[in-house]
Amino acid sequence: MIWVLTLSLVLAGVASVISTGNFYKDFPQIWYPSHVYTSADGSLRSLKLDQESGSGCWTNEQVLFGLIDMQIKLVPGYSAGTVVTFYLISSQTNRDEIDLEFLGNVTGQPYALQTNVYTDGHADREERVYLWFDPTKDFHNYSVLWNIHQIVFMVDSLPIRTYRNHADKGVAFPINQPMSLHITLWNGDSWATRGGRDKIDWSKGPFMSSFRNYKIDACVWRGNTWSCVQSSSTNWWNQNTFSSLTSKQRSSFNWVRKNYLIYDYCQDNQRFQNNLPKECNLPKY
Ligand SMILES: *[C@@H]1O[C@H](CO)[C@@H](O)[C@H](O)[C@H]1NC(C)=O
Ligand SMILES: *[C@@H]1O[C@H](CO)[C@@H](O)[C@H](O)[C@H]1NC(C)=O
Repeated sequence: MIWVLTLSLVLAGVASVISTGNFYKDFPQIWYPSHVYTSADGSLRSLKLDQESGSGCWTNEQVLFGLIDMQIKLVPGYSAGTVVTFYLISSQTNRDEIDLEFLGNVTGQPYALQTNVYTDGHADREERVYLWFDPTKDFHNYSVLWNIHQIVFMVDSLPIRTYRNHADKGVAFPINQPMSLHITLWNGDSWATRGGRDKIDWSKGPFMSSFRNYKIDACVWRGNTWSCVQSSSTNWWNQNTFSSLTSKQRSSFNWVRKNYLIYDYCQDNQRFQNNLPKECNLPKY
């Protein structure tokens, strides 16, 4: 796969970015149009959840690896039971998926960011962190780096989680299923907030979340070949760079996890009956 990719890069040499910055163009697929609001220039999109429906949108293009940023402002005030998502998903039955799910809370209590990785249809890899700021006041930058070495989840450029390619040790890693990008807002009150104890209060709705300034640097399937594009300074798909966290990134990663990690499947012995998944005992960088 790596070799095929490298070859097509050389041969194709197509330099085009797949994000235009315009939601109308890049995220044309819409779930529940009456609940999706987009600025005239396409740079800002808001999603609404009320008793009638949630909403969302997704790309036509599928990407294989990439560095993807999305700026998001979460549901202010009472948001318990609501779930805002930003995720990548493949269309195969045994799907791969890379998830960020923002779980709302009752007024004054903190949002939680749940991340997950599906490989070949298998999930069960949830982690949750609190954020070190109020994510409902301003937009913040949430990113996914996905290359052949690792998946890195980032918040305002600080890595909060890695999922490394330990395929050589028998750990599944998403490497051959292209994925589309999705953003959604929906009712998850059966499980999202304190395990489903805090429900949506419809009298506090409608619930709204906004998205802007996304950037998609990725490999896309076009004209029978994969083209990888990149902004001038990043080289995220390269085999040698971005293969692990830098020392600076390692210290912020450790800071986030020491202070803000609230759930880690790798520490949940009860759930896995003392038989934690293999990757739990392998290096994170
Ligand atoms: C968002 O984060 C990514 C990944 O760290 C970074 O490359 C990008 O410059 C950031 N964008 C903004 C607008 O802060
Ligand atoms: C909501 O707030 C409660 C109380 O502070 C906390 O235990 C919980 O982790 C928060 N987030 C979610 C998603 O339940």
